[in-house]
Amino acid sequence: MADIAALQQDALQQINNAADLRQLDDVRVHWLGKKGQLTEQLKSLGSASIEEKKTLGKALNELKVMLAEQIEARKAELNRAEINARLDAERVDVTLPVYDKPAGRIHPITQVMEEMTAIFADFGFSVAEGPEIESDWYNFTALNIPESHPARQMHDTFYLNATDDKGDPLVLRTHTSPVQIRTMLEQKPPIRIIAPGATYRCDSDMTHTPMFHQVEGLVIDKRIHFGHLKGLVQDFLKAFFNLPDVPMRFRPSFFPFTEPSAEVDIACRKQKDQLIIGQGDDWLEVLGCGMVHPNVLRNCNLNPEEWQGFAFGFGVERLAMLKYNIPDLRTFFESDSRWLQHYGFDALNQPNLAGGV
Ligand code: PHE
Repeated sequence: MADIAALQQDALQQINNAADLRQLDDVRVHWLGKKGQLTEQLKSLGSASIEEKKTLGKALNELKVMLAEQIEARKAELNRAEINARLDAERVDVTLPVYDKPAGRIHPITQVMEEMTAIFADFGFSVAEGPEIESDWYNFTALNIPESHPARQMHDTFYLNATDDKGDPLVLRTHTSPVQIRTMLEQKPPIRIIAPGATYRCDSDMTHTPMFHQVEGLVIDKRIHFGHLKGLVQDFLKAFFNLPDVPMRFRPSFFPFTEPSAEVDIACRKQKDQLIIGQGDDWLEVLGCGMVHPNVLRNCNLNPEEWQGFAFGFGVERLAMLKYNIPDLRTFFESDSRWLQHYGFDALNQPNLAGGV
């Protein structure tokens, strides 16, 4: 006859000695598994006397229940220990300072486009996008620049050796104005969008790079007039340069897609090597703009008798150079990490109006 007390002592010792969940499971199988010690004992009862079956069977069954409980208890204990060990190992010292300076820097072009987006978002504009590879129709024709129009030459276009699926020649967009067309064809007015992005012209010297950036703007609504355009540009320039006043000069100009058209200059003066914005007798051009030409509205299935609007196009490099005193345009795209270290911006400090742009 089995010595129940010895079995119990042996089993309890093994349960307590199990150092982790795996060992504990081995112990469980050893005692309570299909071929476990206790199971075998119970099986061997078959050949015992009735009396033995009664007393021994009861004792073995009680032991079985008790061991199962002990195993569960030990399991909970080991589980807790495991979690505590893990919490200990993965402890984070939340009082440590954050990295004081991430190695990467935000390029001034990205920074200025983010700043402009933040300001125009505050004015109720949303951001629209278009492809950098455009068809001739979007880049020129729909913008009232027919074939053989001299303005096409003005743009020094990069033509691709390919056409779109309608057979229209493809170009690298020479300005962001095609996004005006895409937006008017896709959205119902009223429209208030800006379109920041890269543009391309086959031109390279001190003041031109073959790739540069613009922020296009478009407002279409009923009863929109030039005064709205002027007020918006004024408010934008004050917010962007963070100045109480930025004197401006609207100079008559020509763009095929706006009528009347203007270029806007802002007041500035030179002080030694520094350019001071917002005061002085010198003028610097910062954008082209005008009232959207009726032909452009018609090309986008809008009735010019019902809808009007204005459009504008800022040069991002120019604005970045003025605001952050960057003297040479070409350095923007030389990918010199020392330049970026100097002129770049903190990646963890993105522009927003609450923080001041
Ligand atoms: N697309 C013009 C350019 O690149 C700028 C512009 C935009 C002018 C919108 C008027 C209105 O020169």
